[in-house]
Amino acid sequence: DIYCIIMAGGIGSRFWPLSRTSKPKQFIDILGTGKSLLQQTFERMVNICPKENILIVTSSAYDKLVHEQIPGLNENQVLLEPLRRNTAPCIAYATYKIKKQNPEAVVIVAPSDHLILNEQIFNETIIQAANFASNSDALITLGITPSRPETGYGYIQIGKPVKETPSLFKVKTFTEKPNLELAKKFMESGEFFWNSGLFVWSISSITKAFEKYLPEVNSLFEELLPIYNTEKEEEAISNTYAECRNISVDYGIMEKADNVYVFCAEFGWSDLGTWGSLYTHLPHDSNGNAAVAKDLMLYETKNSIFNIPQSKLAVVQGLEDYIVVDTEDVLLICRKQDEQNIKNYVNEILINK
Ligand code: GDD
Ligand code: MG
Repeated sequence: DIYCIIMAGGIGSRFWPLSRTSKPKQFIDILGTGKSLLQQTFERMVNICPKENILIVTSSAYDKLVHEQIPGLNENQVLLEPLRRNTAPCIAYATYKIKKQNPEAVVIVAPSDHLILNEQIFNETIIQAANFASNSDALITLGITPSRPETGYGYIQIGKPVKETPSLFKVKTFTEKPNLELAKKFMESGEFFWNSGLFVWSISSITKAFEKYLPEVNSLFEELLPIYNTEKEEEAISNTYAECRNISVDYGIMEKADNVYVFCAEFGWSDLGTWGSLYTHLPHDSNGNAAVAKDLMLYETKNSIFNIPQSKLAVVQGLEDYIVVDTEDVLLICRKQDEQNIKNYVNEILINK
């Protein structure tokens, strides 16, 4: 059986001021489609496995948001984390919850805040990867052809192709978030793919990997097997998270394991990491402007992105290459080329207010 773990506990600080600690990026309708990124992720997964097999792991602060956005989930489908400990503990928690129900399961691990353009290719890729994972001790990641030396991603060096499964390769090396120099070298060599952050593996393969590479994290969550889905779970989990280290699955497992495989597929992927990358995925008017806005009048304005979700008329004259985001309490106006500074503004505000 296929299960899915949706990781929805990140804070999305580069999408400030739309993305806030109280309501991060994955809960926002950032594309203006009427659905949040989490809702879109959930709908994609419903095409792949039964609804009851989808688990959402998030911070306990977002419990209400998850239930509001995805009605009908039962209690054991929403896993609440009392503290933010990054993706390895998040995956360990969900893995052992699934193991308790079905130790033979194959699991898809999905970020909650990405864009997938071609759902048909996406579904086919996941199903093929799940078939491979169910018959072999493999940690599979879905790989993306890189287009720029982005330093915020994991880089996967491909090795030998796997016979009989086109597009599947053994992974030689996995490097999480290289520096710019290294990222450029990787790009030039033509041997590397980006890690999409989507993983496919069996419960037995991932628990073996946790035992081997993150034994302390593993035993914290394995110990709790008898109390999952009982009334003691919440308290036990809060003790476990207090003791657990903070580490991502990429650093903790993918960089170290020797049974990593990559499925390379072109399903139109973006992690919508910044306003600039969102801009490239929104429809543009004839002047290259992209807008999620109710009432916007643009004059001599080019190549800019506007997010003005509330009902107000906005009139703009003479802007070029700008980001304009208007929320209830914050207005941001920033050159697109300076968007990397946004996370600094957030830090400054946190310190000063
Ligand atoms: N439940 C839970 N708890 N979810 C979390 C936590 C946590 O503590 N931390 C992050 N997440 C969720 C985020 O909401 C996101 O959906 C996903 O896990 C990945 O976390 P990010 O923080 O966005 O990771 P990243 O973007 O720095 O790097 C990962 O994704 C890249 C592709 O977008 C890595 O897997 C990279 O290797 C990869 O290239
Ligand atoms: Mg991310």
